[in-house]
Amino acid sequence: MPPRKILIDCDPGIDDALAIVLAHGNAAVEIVGITTVGGNVSLDRTTRNARALREFLGFRDTPVVPGSAGALLRSRIHAAHVHGDSGLGAARLPEPALAAADGHAADFIIETLRPGDVTLVAIGPLTNVALAVRKEPRIVDWARELVILGGSYTRGNATPAAEFNIAADPEAAAIVFGAGWTVTMIGLDVSRTALATGAVVDRMRAMGRLGADLLVPCVEFYGMVTAEEGPAIHDACAVAYAIDPTLIDVQPAVVDVETHGVHTSGMTVVDFNLRDRAPNALVGTRIDVPRFWDLLLTTYASVAAALEIG
Ligand code: BDR
Ligand code: CA
Repeated sequence: MPPRKILIDCDPGIDDALAIVLAHGNAAVEIVGITTVGGNVSLDRTTRNARALREFLGFRDTPVVPGSAGALLRSRIHAAHVHGDSGLGAARLPEPALAAADGHAADFIIETLRPGDVTLVAIGPLTNVALAVRKEPRIVDWARELVILGGSYTRGNATPAAEFNIAADPEAAAIVFGAGWTVTMIGLDVSRTALATGAVVDRMRAMGRLGADLLVPCVEFYGMVTAEEGPAIHDACAVAYAIDPTLIDVQPAVVDVETHGVHTSGMTVVDFNLRDRAPNALVGTRIDVPRFWDLLLTTYASVAAALEIG
């Protein structure tokens, strides 16, 4: 089977970086472009990090296209306290030499989705995707699928109610969920169950330059690692779903985004009962944790081996 083409809209970001390594290294998908958005850190830094990953990993022909620095209507929130000032924790990748592409991410998303065979995987705030769908509403039919890492039907992380990517631009998320396509929403309910424990990090430690320069300094910065606990590598769950949808159970639901709440702004209100409304989302409810880590670590090992050969 030819690889599934994916366009990644992201804000690297530690877990974005680990998601990009997974997409790059797995033969089931082909990255046809990376668009960047301000989110975890500023747009300049997320774009710089995407360019640095492109060169470190060696997919030099794939465009990196910057998009929105801030949210549609409100001040941007950042998460440098989680991802470090650089956005990549303690990882120190060489300064990239290749420039970002000209143009805006929203236009690149439109043109890349137009042929009808590309899956959009959005793992940052949804500002670029909202702009694209407002400018060209037909992308809802062109996209093979839209998979996002974002939202939650239990609890948030940016606030008690809201997950970071939705909280960062609730109006954009509301546009995306209301656009007429079925959003595959992989949220915290799923990602928080797949933790990078000590056993996982030990496997990464044996992965040469990839482990030493990127994986381990990212994961150890991201959260405390013990035998039973460790950080969730959220964004990798969305890419893992694009690679192998059988890894995550999804259920149809109606998802509304709260844009007004004093305490609940950015909350995804998920109704699995459907009542009298047609579903606008497939919401992740369970991930096969052993198979998820098997996929990641097998793929990372192959990327690591390729890097050692040069
Ligand atoms: C999401 O928020 C960001 O900090 C991560 O990169 C991920 O996309 C998790 O809530
Ligand atoms: Ca992200």
